[in-house]
Amino acid sequence: MVDYRHSPVTVDGKRAVVIGGTSGIGQAIALGFAEEGADVVATSRDETKVEETAAAIEDRGVDTARVTCDVTEHDSLDRVRETAVDELGGIDIVVASQGAISRATVEGISEEDWDFVTDVALDGVRRVTQAFAPAIEEGGSIINISSLSARLSMANLPAYSAAKGGVEAFTRASAKELAPEIRVNAIAPGFVITPQNADTYAEGTEKRQRIDERTPLSRVAEREEIVGAAIYLASDAASFVTGEVLTVDGGFADSAF
Ligand SMILES: NC(=O)c1ccc[n+]([C@@H]2O[C@H](COP(=O)([O-])OP(=O)(O)OC[C@H]3O[C@@H](n4cnc5c(N)ncnc54)[C@H](O)[C@@H]3O)[C@@H](O)[C@H]2O)c1
Repeated sequence: MVDYRHSPVTVDGKRAVVIGGTSGIGQAIALGFAEEGADVVATSRDETKVEETAAAIEDRGVDTARVTCDVTEHDSLDRVRETAVDELGGIDIVVASQGAISRATVEGISEEDWDFVTDVALDGVRRVTQAFAPAIEEGGSIINISSLSARLSMANLPAYSAAKGGVEAFTRASAKELAPEIRVNAIAPGFVITPQNADTYAEGTEKRQRIDERTPLSRVAEREEIVGAAIYLASDAASFVTGEVLTVDGGFADSAF
């Protein structure tokens, strides 16, 4: 007899750290995990935002800890790891959702802007993996937040695009090295409304109209619409999924017209 039982899509009872977890997509993932019964440490550089998000996590009836973090510093990530292990009793899931962007042409981007973006978006992902891989429990996973710009050309985003392309390649490289104990995957969101970009993507703007027209689902995403992909990849339902990039873009990337 074949055993058709499968693992559920849930993070209930798991322990998660979300880097860049106090705003935007990372915060939605942190709160979504908490709603599903995971203990969550959501962290960024801002103490006030760490406190606000920690309180919102506690409101959902799970454990958390308060710690700031800067992904450009190894020591800072080591502190987050130690805090999470001490306060939650271990780590099963790490999400790297920190973000940095700079709009400039290929010819015009400065060394400083290039280094700023890649230091946070690409080297930050590497440092997060280096800091947390030794502490993640067997069967746990890392989720790196990439972007459509890893595979679609978008004007004036050379450093961001290169960093996200690097994040996807690094996801595959680390998935191979950290297997079989830890799975490593990425999510590539399309256009997602967050408090930070609400004006840019506001209804009625030319940009919004162009995105809506090109997207098969005819709209941009709410940040909560990225949470399900993260829960799936972090859950035991994805126990055979590693080195994968899950695109969540309403069909944008694969649509010609
Ligand atoms: N919003 C979108 O449309 C979209 C689309 C594709 C990909 N993404 C990616 O999703 C991720 C989250 O972006 P978002 O839109 O939610 O933006 P956001 O600005 O709301 O979130 C980014 C988070 O990263 C934190 N951060 C920045 N620098 C940091 C540092 N040095 N150390 C620690 N934390 C730092 C910020 O404090 C913030 O909490 C990013 O990787 C972004 O590139 C976003």
